Amino acid sequence: MGSRISRRGCRVAVRRLRYAESYVRARLFGTDGITMSPLNHTAIVLGVTGGIAAFKSASVASLLVQAGSRVDVVMTESAQRFIQPLTFSAITHTPVHTNAFAPWTDEHSGHVSLARNADLLIVAPATAAAIARLALGLADDLLGLIALSTEAPIIVAPAMEDRMFNHPSVRDHLVTLAERGVIVVGPDHGRLASGAIGDGRMASPEAIVEAAATQLRRSSQLHGRKVVVTAGGTQEPLDPVRYIGNRSSGMMGYALAAAAMSAGATVTLISGPTTLRPPCGAEFVEVTTAVEMHREVERATFGADILIMAAAVADFRPETRSERKLKKQVDQEFMDVRLVRNPDILASIDRPDLLKIGFAAETEDLLANAKRKLEAKHLAIIVANDAELTIGASSSTATILTSEGDVTALPPMTKSSLAAKVIDVATTMLNRADRRP
Ligand code: CTP
Repeated sequence: MGSRISRRGCRVAVRRLRYAESYVRARLFGTDGITMSPLNHTAIVLGVTGGIAAFKSASVASLLVQAGSRVDVVMTESAQRFIQPLTFSAITHTPVHTNAFAPWTDEHSGHVSLARNADLLIVAPATAAAIARLALGLADDLLGLIALSTEAPIIVAPAMEDRMFNHPSVRDHLVTLAERGVIVVGPDHGRLASGAIGDGRMASPEAIVEAAATQLRRSSQLHGRKVVVTAGGTQEPLDPVRYIGNRSSGMMGYALAAAAMSAGATVTLISGPTTLRPPCGAEFVEVTTAVEMHREVERATFGADILIMAAAVADFRPETRSERKLKKQVDQEFMDVRLVRNPDILASIDRPDLLKIGFAAETEDLLANAKRKLEAKHLAIIVANDAELTIGASSSTATILTSEGDVTALPPMTKSSLAAKVIDVATTMLNRADRRP
């Protein structure tokens, strides 16, 4: 009886395993098999750094190879203390790279050819040291050289003890990398090598490879397209030292510019004053006032496919700007400032074939207000969110409304993830418009 139950239990377990495996394979490789996978015929550099999770990178390499990628594994010295290069060369059928000073040949010129040929660089596991080195741009080993020389997107999968992961230094380095468009996968919460439970477990090999597939699919989404993004708040001067402004940080617009870049678009980012670093590779235009932003948007949208107005544009500006600092009188209790209307940039830009995307940050009647703006400004998409919760925060809970009547309420997510979603929706609408007769 007992053995019968356990045999049946075994059959169920095997069925479940097969189901799980086919589910993962379908997601990674497509239901039509390997040729459907965006990983097929791609060149991936897999950087393995020195943490105990390095043994799981063998599964990452194996899944990539099964999906049709050529995988060049680059191991740091400390990674080789955890796992042998032989393991990876047996899986990838390609020699493992461990030496920055290996002699160059006609076919292989060290980090230069690895960086140039790569469609994607994955660093898994990425230890705290590796993350710091990538963020600082240290190039004294092969992986550092490749990371600095490649134009391919980079995915890092952090893996370390939870106290290390939660250290401000590690957090700051990850923020720096994310700002540069590096995709951070995981880490997961769970059992760590020490036996403790916490954040720092490397994301599963399936999750890492799925992120790679998503990124490669995305890299070509907007290839050949021109995207104009506005970000930050405008400042409307009263005198040489004072202005009327708002609390916009610019994070959403910068994340959108980065997402459009990693989707393969040519990007112009027009930004009000912020403390953020512009994404590398984008045309960057700094403006201060709404009138300046209007002029730059008109210029940049010539020949553009998408305009995303994430900027918080001041609707009014002081009628006059004093040339000298305004002085108060001893007995002055009030000051009147007359404001005049600024142009509505999004509503006024009217170019055929330009897909316009707006943002509606509201404190009440969110969806009704967003829908009204979508129609009034002839937008394809509007992203609606709660002004008080969103402005200045690194995450957002948004609803995406489209001119086709779709309303998608999204769960809370980082602004980078929201940016990727907005780009996905825009790409779908753009492609659909292209197919119309
Ligand atoms: N916008 C714009 N020019 C303006 C004001 C807003 O291009 N002068 C854009 C914003 O960048 C945003 C969208 O229009 O994408 C909606 O902005 P929002 O400030 O929410 O709405 P307004 O149209 O200004 O309406 P209200 O102030 O009444 O909410």
